[in-house]
Amino acid sequence: MTVNEIGLKNKPVIELVDHINILLANYQIHYQKVRGCHWNVKGHNFFDLHIKFEELYNNAQTTIDELAERVLTLGKSPFSTYADYIKVSEIKEIKTDGLSADKMVTAILGDFQKLIEMEREVIENATENAGDEGTADMIIGFLKFKEKTSWMFRAWEGKN
Ligand SMILES: [Fe+2]
Repeated sequence: MTVNEIGLKNKPVIELVDHINILLANYQIHYQKVRGCHWNVKGHNFFDLHIKFEELYNNAQTTIDELAERVLTLGKSPFSTYADYIKVSEIKEIKTDGLSADKMVTAILGDFQKLIEMEREVIENATENAGDEGTADMIIGFLKFKEKTSWMFRAWEGKN
């Protein structure tokens, strides 16, 4: 099997990079959802959540950029239009205007759950099929952030 210039086997890497591109698309829809929550949150939790949502979308923006640049590093072009994101994303858009703060948190936790699941699949694909530790290492960092933030939101909800 042929290898590319960074020593990764071409065929499994092409499959992996498509997988990363799908994760990127899901992240973009999630990112815009969190921005909507930041803008539309209302109620007594406003000050806490307005700031927390901003932290989360800034984190998502950095993650998206790293995913896109990993796609380029591995030799393809990242999805860059909302038309593509909407077409391939499993995470769906929601209207945040009028949504309660509790439901916003539930929606974000639901996205985290899906993203974590997808990331575990990408990590498995990267290590077992493509021998690509660099991608696995990068995504493990994203995964750990969402795991910890999920716990914090559950604590915020008064759950364990
Ligand atoms: Fe803002």
